[in-house]
Amino acid sequence: MHVPQDIAETIVDPRAYAAREPLDEAFRWLRSNAPLAKVQPTGFDPFWAVTRHADILTVERQNDLFHNGDRAATLTTIDADRRTRELTGGSPHIVRTLVQMDNPDHLAYRRLTQAAFLPQNLRALEPRIREIARSFVDRMIAMGGRCDFARDIAFLYPLRVIMELMGVPESDEPRMLKLTQEVFGASDPDLNRSGETVDAARLVEDMQATMAELMVYFNAITEDRRRCPREDISTIIANGQIDGQPIGHFEAMSYYIIVATAGHDTTSNTTAGALWALAENPEQFQKVKGDPALIPGFVEESIRWETPVKHFMRSATADAEVAGQAIAKGDWMMLCYPSGNRDEAAFNEPFKFDVTRSPNRHVAFGYGAHVCLGQHLARMEMRILWEELLPRLKSVELDGVPSRWQASFVCGPKTVPIRFTLE
Ligand code: HEM
Repeated sequence: MHVPQDIAETIVDPRAYAAREPLDEAFRWLRSNAPLAKVQPTGFDPFWAVTRHADILTVERQNDLFHNGDRAATLTTIDADRRTRELTGGSPHIVRTLVQMDNPDHLAYRRLTQAAFLPQNLRALEPRIREIARSFVDRMIAMGGRCDFARDIAFLYPLRVIMELMGVPESDEPRMLKLTQEVFGASDPDLNRSGETVDAARLVEDMQATMAELMVYFNAITEDRRRCPREDISTIIANGQIDGQPIGHFEAMSYYIIVATAGHDTTSNTTAGALWALAENPEQFQKVKGDPALIPGFVEESIRWETPVKHFMRSATADAEVAGQAIAKGDWMMLCYPSGNRDEAAFNEPFKFDVTRSPNRHVAFGYGAHVCLGQHLARMEMRILWEELLPRLKSVELDGVPSRWQASFVCGPKTVPIRFTLE
């Protein structure tokens, strides 16, 4: 089935992710007419758009056949790819985090921190995370009935949590927020380093400058944690060893960067999107407020609803077949998570926000070997925030028109102006 070019252009267009409806429409068309489709938006190498829930799982399950590291792991134009390879001496990646690794390295590097992010080990952090959540609820209440929930609360709370886990002082948080937003908001002129819409080559250069700044910051942390180990994630990374040898410097720097960036923006976007959904659906607000046992389900539904990570890329290591399509060795594939999470074949009424949705097997955290390392932390911190906030809120409604970031990789609400009353 031929894919109309405007659909191919839409699924890579950061503005479509900000507007959302055109994106939903494009994915709906693809799911029903060409669920595994070869597309070639202007300026990109051709790639397969994987839009069905079941096909996303099929690809993710086979991480030896569909690799992360051989080609760019996120959507990259031909020009940006060329510039990246020039700057890195041939690699398609500016950093080498877990996301850009395949086995055996992926497994070895993931094992270093995996235990710290397991539910049984996170449990000890619950009282401290609750204290942080309470401080943000108090701050919201002090704002006297109106706030921009995205900027005033949702961007800051998960930042505070992950920085505390990493042992980064509170005074450095504004800098970390700015650098993270430069990483994920490179295509949004309000967020990127240049403050304007930039071409692909400039985008890569700006990104490398941001990464370099992050590396200088984390280099100092490494030295400190080698001298004086603490109970934090930075100490694990700084002293990480594989086969008795210290891990590579570039890999250690990349490790800090992924935890420091992926560790809050995703959760912030989901938190902001969740309150936006509650403000638009007062009956859902009443339901979850009236029965705290529904909060974990509400968290899960808000992760599905917002799907803050919009895609990851894979490439085939050998000729393969998925959903009846012949994939050639080297082919590039886009895992379209927002589409998988609106797939009519996997969800009943997927366009409805339903805090009681069960089962809710969304793919917002990915799947398989690379499944989100921080998924349990993300769930826990959001659950705690709602447990603290919902009993205090009597009503909430939108106080203006919310907006979204322009980005095709990680994004969500930019502003969520609300009016609220208290119990
Ligand atoms: C709602 C919040 C979050 C969402 C929706 C999310 C989503 C994702 C997705 C889709 C992936 C790729 C999975 C795949 O390729 O199959 C991923 C990977 C990852 N996430 Fe998250 N994430 C969230 C929160 C966090 C947090 C709080 C952390 C903190 C440590 C984190 C750290 C990571 C890391 C390190 C990876 C790379 C894992 C690997 O490649 O092995 N994420 N996440």
